[in-house]
Parts: sequence; structure tokens; C-alpha cells
Amino acid sequence: MSNKLRAVITGVGGYVPDYVLTNKELETIVDTNDEWITSRTGIKERRILKGKDQGTSVLANHAVDQLLEKTGVNPEEIDLIICATTTPDMIFPATANLVGEHIGAKNAFGYDLQAACSGFLYALTTASQFICSGTYKKVIVVGADKMSSIIDYQDRTTCIIFGDGAAAVMLEPTEEPLGLVDSILRSDGSGAPFLHLKAGGSRRPATIESVTAREHFVYQEGATVFKYAVKHMSDVAAQIMQRNDLTANDIQWLVPHQANKRIIDATASRMGIGEDRTMFNIHRYGNTTSATIPLCLWDYESQLKKGDNLILAAFGGGFTWGASYLKWGYDGQ
Ligand code: COA
Repeated sequence: MSNKLRAVITGVGGYVPDYVLTNKELETIVDTNDEWITSRTGIKERRILKGKDQGTSVLANHAVDQLLEKTGVNPEEIDLIICATTTPDMIFPATANLVGEHIGAKNAFGYDLQAACSGFLYALTTASQFICSGTYKKVIVVGADKMSSIIDYQDRTTCIIFGDGAAAVMLEPTEEPLGLVDSILRSDGSGAPFLHLKAGGSRRPATIESVTAREHFVYQEGATVFKYAVKHMSDVAAQIMQRNDLTANDIQWLVPHQANKRIIDATASRMGIGEDRTMFNIHRYGNTTSATIPLCLWDYESQLKKGDNLILAAFGGGFTWGASYLKWGYDGQ
């Protein structure tokens, strides 16, 4: 009898656009300053995708191109592409379909998954089910967001936070004790009033008035979101440790969603994990929503070892939140 199948990450690709929006430049756009942004969020700069008609698929395509190059997988072998995004190129078709077309994934199907900043965790967990059931053998999960397309650069409370980026992982089956072991995912729609986009959906389609009222941008009540983020992200991270009999010493890396350095620090401290084992790149990219967690894996890939225990944790609009426990599949180069 064969062992239980697990879904393991066999490669990571990433991409951030070239344009660097620094705190200094933001000082010239809104009433803010580098000291405030750094001390309140930990962010120093973020990347912005410039140019006409450049959507999230541009970011995702670059990340997936690199993933295929690194893993050597033929696009025709891909079974499924799940794109976690809150800023799809268009309401339809799905951005995953555009990525599939770009890489020539002729035998795959694909769809988008929208769970704001928890999108990558939701997508990873969903993709893993298709692998563990034995249905598919090669699944790409890409987290990609062009947050600059829904940010109001007149609103100093949100424009300092977000950036653009994408990163993708390949998931494949293994019978070794590696890969995704457990996930706890949650959502609570009562959080919607505190973090949402007012117009542009079916409830309030775009009108001249909605554009004039600047309703096509992220609306956030920062302090409330902060409070829930700290509580839920650290609770769920502690819960997944407990449920899997893990102590802080068993965990090599915490991979937290990068929303605010203070939220990351609170989660790490609750878990008893030091800064040296907490992935951190918010100072360079800001909050890239669905892309933060895979961009961390991309940045830290060279330091990862086969069998390392990783805890991934996220919180975002919805509210949505969750944590995953995974055993890393290969030694970083
Ligand atoms: N520059 C300077 N001052 C700013 C500012 C900026 N960019 N943004 C807000 N301020 C001011 C406010 O106007 C307020 O001034 P007041 O006291 O005179 O009214 C003061 O700073 C404090 O504002 P507050 O919103 O309470 O700050 P905060 O410490 O909560 O930090 C966030 C704001 C947005 C950084 C923080 O709330 C946060 O990170 N929230 C969660 C964000 C998040 O995770 N979102 C995505 C979900 S994944």
C-alpha cells in the first residue's frame, strides 16, 4: 500500500517591478515623513508597476516564467494554475487564464482566488487538496497583486503601505514526510466595513460620481484592522503550533504576511520565535497582499533546508486569516 500523498513545494519564482517608490518620494506626494512610516510600519520602499495597460498578469507572468525556468517543468505538464489576487487584470476572465495562455499551459485549467492578504494561504491549501487526492501532479500557485491600481495616492493612511509584486510556487506530490502538513483557515464577513473597496463591484458599478468621490480605492480603518490582525494572526499561529505539538524550538522559520512590522513582531513574540527566524522583507516591498508570503519564500529560498518546519500566517480583508504548517522540500541553492 502506498504512503499518504502530500503536496510539496518544489520551486519558487518571484518578480517585483523596477520602479522603487521610496518614503522620501511619498513625502513629496502626501503629508508624511520617513520617520513616521518607518516607525509605524517598518516600510522604507515599495515597488510600483508603471506603464499603460500593465495589469497584475504582467507581474504573475514574470514570476511564473522564472518558476518554470528554475524547476525545468514543461508548461504542457501543468494541470492547474491558481492565481491568488485581489487586483485581477479584469473582472473576467480570470488572471490565471491569462497566465496559462502566456506560458502555454495547454493542458491546464485555472482560476483566481480572492481572499485579500490571506489569498496565498487559501490557494496553497486548496491546491494541496487536488494533489493529496491524487487528482493532479503539477499545480502552480501564484500570488500577485498590483495594489497601486487600487490605492489613492492622496490618502496618506493607505498609500504608504502597499506595493506591487508576484511570486509563484510549484506544488507536486510526494510520499516523503514533507510538504503541507496542516492549515487553519478562517473568515468573518463582519470585518468588511473596516477594509474594502466601495465601488466597481456589482453592488455599486462605476459611475462618474463614484470616480469623482474616489470610491475605487482601498478604504481602511487602520487602527481597527491593526487590532484584529494582531489578535487573529497570532492566535491562529499559536493554535497551529499546539495542534501539531510544535514548540518554538521545532520551528525553523515563521513566514508572516507582511502588513506591518508591528503585527509581524507581535505574532513572532507570541510564538516565541526570534527575529533571526522570522522572514521579513516589508521594508523593501511594503504590503503586496497575495504576494507577501511567496515573496518571502523567494527571498529566503537560499537559506531553507529540506525538512525545515515553516509556519505561514496571514490576515487580511474580509476579514480573512489563517496559518499553515509546512515542511520544506529541498535545500536552497
Ligand atoms: N504620515 C504621518 N501621519 C500619519 C500617516 C502618515 N502616513 N497616516 C496616519 N497618520 C496620522 C493620523 O492622521 C493620526 O493623526 P491624529 O492622531 O492627529 O489623528 C496618527 O497618525 C495616528 O493614526 P493611526 O491610524 O492611529 O495610526 P496607526 O498607528 O494605527 O498606524 C496604520 C496606521 C495604517 C499603519 C496601522 O493602523 C496599520 O498598520 N493597520 C493595519 C494595516 C493592515 O494590516 N492592513 C492590511 C490588512 S492585511
